Amino acid sequence: MSLPTLIFALLVVSSAVAAPRAHAARELAGNDAIAVDAAMVSRHEKWMAEHGRTYADEEEKARRLEVFRANAKFIDSFNAAEESSHRLATNRFADLTDEEFRAARTGLRPVAGAGSGAGGFRYENFSLADAAGSMDWRAMGAVTGVKDQGSCGCCWAFSAVAAVEGLTKIRTGRLVSLSEQQLVDCDVNGDDEGCAGGLMDNAFEYMVRRGGLTTESSYPYRGTDGSCRRSASAASIRGYEDVPANNEAALMAAVAHQPVSVAINGGDSVFRFYDSGVLGGSGCGTELNHAITAVGYGTASDGSKYWIMKNSWGASWGERGYVRIRRGVRGEGVCGLAQLASYPV
Ligand SMILES: *[C@@H]1O[C@H](CO)[C@@H](O)[C@H](O)[C@H]1NC(C)=O
Repeated sequence: MSLPTLIFALLVVSSAVAAPRAHAARELAGNDAIAVDAAMVSRHEKWMAEHGRTYADEEEKARRLEVFRANAKFIDSFNAAEESSHRLATNRFADLTDEEFRAARTGLRPVAGAGSGAGGFRYENFSLADAAGSMDWRAMGAVTGVKDQGSCGCCWAFSAVAAVEGLTKIRTGRLVSLSEQQLVDCDVNGDDEGCAGGLMDNAFEYMVRRGGLTTESSYPYRGTDGSCRRSASAASIRGYEDVPANNEAALMAAVAHQPVSVAINGGDSVFRFYDSGVLGGSGCGTELNHAITAVGYGTASDGSKYWIMKNSWGASWGERGYVRIRRGVRGEGVCGLAQLASYPV
């Protein structure tokens, strides 16, 4: 049962328990309910204006209001809970159902045998005692601006490209924005299927096979599947390696050296509506459906350790397009982040 469903079920139960109350009290509650509803209607209207959202007709608007209401209630109760380490916001995804959101905005498809350790792990003997206490590849000029995958399930392409952009900057000193659309259009002869989903390791394999990737400006992002165009390579890689699974120390050794592609559960509400703070993990599943890029790590003033992850949902999402996620959790990691990480070489 998802958390919004659970909260809804609890509300139903509590209102049933309250049923045999005095008539006056019931009337008052009824008036309150109408006032709450009017407030939600106007909140939805405001949200629509803020996000430039329009609907085909009144019927769709009524349907979207119901979805918005459920999401807003979840967000409010999450933010009100004392134990919540991060804040949620009714961001531009607030009128989408879980299913709609996952179909349009995620797109990781872990295939059988994925992450089984292609090519060893070159940082296995690196001592974390030698790692910087905090790392931010953005400050090192190795991260391009936040991008937006739009309504195309190709998070895998954005994740792989960000890792290659980082490695290219570290190797050559040049930061070049590379083409996700080339992967969406051209990396289609294996398991990757453009907007229908894919996997970073397969994207790396494509780049090895085809001699690299071209620039974003010469093959711009369109956010739909298209036919492959011939294009000159602007950055190439020799291969890729998988970070040993469920091992955040290994992940830290890798991120200390370069930005790393990370698979995660990005479909749950605590992630979808992330606004700021260190995402703690309660309410976040560990099944993998999304991909982002680890571009650093650090420790907050309250002592909580976090990863800095670049997402591909635009700069208005989260902390200017980034999410900080709790670091140093045993096993699969918060939202499953330690399960299927890899990097180009
Ligand atoms: C790590 O150290 C072991 C033992 O010295 C060695 O066999 C292995 O090749 C080293 N791994 C790497 C990636 O250098």
